[in-house]
Parts: sequence; structure tokens; C-alpha cells
Amino acid sequence: MLSDPHIWWYVTRSSALVAWALMTLSVVWGILLSTRLLRRIDNPAWLQDVHRFLGGLMLIMVGLHMLSLMLDGWLKFTIPELLVPFATDYRPLGVALGIVAFYLLIAVQGSSLIMHRLPRKFWKGLHYSSFAALLMVSFHAGLSGTDVGALGYKILAFSLIGIATFSIVLRAAVGTRTRRAVKAEIWVPAHDSKPRISPPRIETQQLVVDDLAPIAENVLHIKLLNTSGSLLPIWYPGSHITLHLPNGLERQYSLCGDPADRDHYEIAVLRTDDSAGGSSWIHTNLRRGMTMTVSGPLNNFELEPARDYLFVAGGIGITPIRAMIESLPMRREWKLVYVGRSRRAMAFAEELKQLYPDRVLIHSTEEDGARLALDRLTVAESTHVYTCGPESLTQSVAIGIPHEQLHVEHFTPVLRLPQIPDAAVQLSFTRARQQLTVGADESILEVLERNGMPVLGSCRKGVCGSCEVRVISGTPEHLDSVMDDSDKDALGVMYPCVSRAKTPELVLDL
Ligand code: FES
Repeated sequence: MLSDPHIWWYVTRSSALVAWALMTLSVVWGILLSTRLLRRIDNPAWLQDVHRFLGGLMLIMVGLHMLSLMLDGWLKFTIPELLVPFATDYRPLGVALGIVAFYLLIAVQGSSLIMHRLPRKFWKGLHYSSFAALLMVSFHAGLSGTDVGALGYKILAFSLIGIATFSIVLRAAVGTRTRRAVKAEIWVPAHDSKPRISPPRIETQQLVVDDLAPIAENVLHIKLLNTSGSLLPIWYPGSHITLHLPNGLERQYSLCGDPADRDHYEIAVLRTDDSAGGSSWIHTNLRRGMTMTVSGPLNNFELEPARDYLFVAGGIGITPIRAMIESLPMRREWKLVYVGRSRRAMAFAEELKQLYPDRVLIHSTEEDGARLALDRLTVAESTHVYTCGPESLTQSVAIGIPHEQLHVEHFTPVLRLPQIPDAAVQLSFTRARQQLTVGADESILEVLERNGMPVLGSCRKGVCGSCEVRVISGTPEHLDSVMDDSDKDALGVMYPCVSRAKTPELVLDL
């Protein structure tokens, strides 16, 4: 076999076809991941690993293809001919496309290895260039292959091109299903490739208080049952619902049950010392059998794919974290640091400690004395940190954790002062043919509501995320606490209950 004069021709053809197939598979896999067709509640890291593995294997095959091109007795490519476009006389355009695709693939694969150190937008843009590389490889194969006329080759080529085309069309049709879109069940019109996020379509239901019981000092566990017979909206860990109380107040509470239970929601409500009538009303007046108006769920605190997790919860901040922990498979690496004043006041503490004795650290200042030095917390590059609790706790955690590995849910608004003095803002809209002026002393949400724009205000403090609108042009000045500013900019959204504008005009998708 080795004495066969065509041996390197066979190697070069087979390695090229295998590389092309692996590349197609890697792109398809990436599309399925980004459209969330492969991942739901759990985002197992091995799905990402398979994507990377396919890409790496493909590059090895490309290397073998290039090496065999030099060893083939007929083609005898030199190194410059292999690395410099149009340096060869043999089918120069086809070969040049292959060379450019090779450099693109190196950039895509290399940037994936250091993606946590790169700006997310830059990495994503570069990663999407793998579509272009796939297209170039298809033309490269068609223009420079020495056996393109063979039936077997034609079948394989058309299959690969067909699969890739179908996947790219699927990707365009489904969109990225970003975390906001998935959770808020946002209206995505067929004629628009960008998900429209204004206004979030938040469902409202009448739910019956099926059970309520104290589970810790000043903490009431409440089960809200859907008696209509239909299923409740799908939700994911980190989601919250809004309770519309009979006294006119609206309050948001994280869901802490099992997302698989579609007939009821579970929440835990802490009676706060400074309650303005929300938690105190619930603790005093809520009874089994009462019907409550509930809207949501919304999610500003989604569990993103990661190799391992560190959860840091303070007090009632355990509620979204509990749902996250319950959604992870047993094999996933995670740890929980749960901090509170006293064990008596820490909901789910005993349950979690019993279930996961090696993974859960409970720290109560009453029993364990001094506060934990959370500001000195450091984690491996592969660990994502999710923290929820009092502002002092989340701020301490944020000190030692790299920004891109940190996910915070705020209960109360973070104090954010505008960097530019309040000034009038001119609003125009993509669909409404009118212009509105927001005075320096009023909020954008107030003006939108007064003029009948379809926005939903709830907390009005920049915490709940209900009032989200998409910004088409102009620069918002984010003053809310819903999510990281870079995430809002990447999604192109703002929360007009508290946020304003850095530019004199904003164009909103309303
Ligand atoms: S109304 Fe809650 S974030 Fe604006």
C-alpha cells in the first residue's frame, strides 16, 4: 500500500473530505447550541466541548491535507504555495479560497481558547466568520478538487452543502433565543431577523394559593396553583414572577421550585423590616384558597453554560439559587456558600445541607462569628459565580471575581448617579408616528405610559425588568440594576423607568 504512487493523493483527498465533514458538523453543532435546540434548563459543558473538539479535529485534518499536498508526487506544493493565496499556478482561485478559509478557521479556533479574555462582541463576530469559512471551503472543494466529477464525491458534497444550508436557514429563522427572549416569550415577528423586545409579552394568570407555610423565621413558602387546567408558561432557574397585591402594590419574587412543575409556582417571601406594604401584606393577609393575580415569569438572571459554578446566596437570595441547583445534573461541579444572620432565618438551609453535605457551606454570623471575607473570594477561569442577596454581599463578591464570570441579581436598586445632568430627551419610534419630549424632571416610562405606548411598568425602580424597550438609535444612560450594562448594550435594550439618555434623542422600537 505504502508503495502505491497514489498514496498521498488518497490521503489528501480523504483528509480534505473528512475535514470538510467535521467543519460542517462543528458549524451545525454550534448552531444547535446557539439556538438552544441542544440545551434547555441544563447547559452541560460537554456540549460545548464537543463543538470545540470537532473544530480541533477538523484543523488536524486540514494540517494532514496540507502536508499530503506537499508529499503528493504530482501536485508537489511548496510551503509558500500552501500558505500564500495565488502563489500557485494550480487552480489559483480555488486554492486561495482554501488558504483564506484556513486562516479564518485558525482565528476562530484560537479565539475560542481565549474567549474569556476577549470582548464578547468581538469573539462572537469572529466566531460567526466560520459561516464564511464554510462557504469558502465549499467553493475550494468544488474548484480545486481533482475528483469533483466522481459520483461519490458529488453525493458527499451535495449532502454537506445541504446540511450546512439547512442549518444556517434554521439559525436565521430561530434566532439566538437570547436569555431575554427565552424567558420573556418575546414576540419575534417573521419579517424581522432581530428579536423585538418591546414590550415583553408577559403573561398574567389568576392563581390560587394552594399552600403557605413558614419555612424559616419571617419567611413564608407559598405555592400558587393554576386551576385553569392549562399549563403555566415555561420558566428557567433565575426567573421571577410579579404578584399584584389587592392593595395595589406589585412585588417580584424569584421562583424557587422545580421548573418541570407546570401546574404551580413556588416562592418564598421574607417579611422585611421596612416593608412598604408588600411582604407585610402577604404575611398578614394571604390565606389558603385566595386567588392572586400573577404576571411573568421574567428572567434577568439566567444560568449560563459553564464548566462549574459557585453560588453565593445571602438570606432570601437563596430562592433563585435553589432553583438553579435543582436544575443541574448530579455530575456537574458546583458549590454553594450560603450566608445569613442565623440558621433559623435561612430558608432551605437544612434541606440543602442534608442533600449536598460536601457542596454546601452554611455560614451564620450568629453561630460562626465574624463575617465571611467574600471580598477575597477567587475562582478558577472555568467557574461562573452566581450571587443573590443584600447589596453589601453582592458587592463584596464582585471585588475578586472577573466581570465576565460574575452574575448578580439585585433585590433592591443599586445607587447609580447619572453621569450627565438630567436634560430633556426627544423620543421617536419605529412604529408610532409621533415624537415625544421627556422633561428633565420626569421619567421616560412616565411619558411613554401617559401617551399610551405599550410598555409595562412594575417596580419602577429599575430592578424587575418589566419595562424593557429596544433602542434602535441613540445612547441610553443605564441607571437600572436589571443586568450588566454590557449585556443591555449587546441586546440593545434599556429600562426607561429609571434610565435616561446620553444623546438628545432616542429612537425606540415601539
Ligand atoms: S419597571 Fe421594573 S425595571 Fe422598569
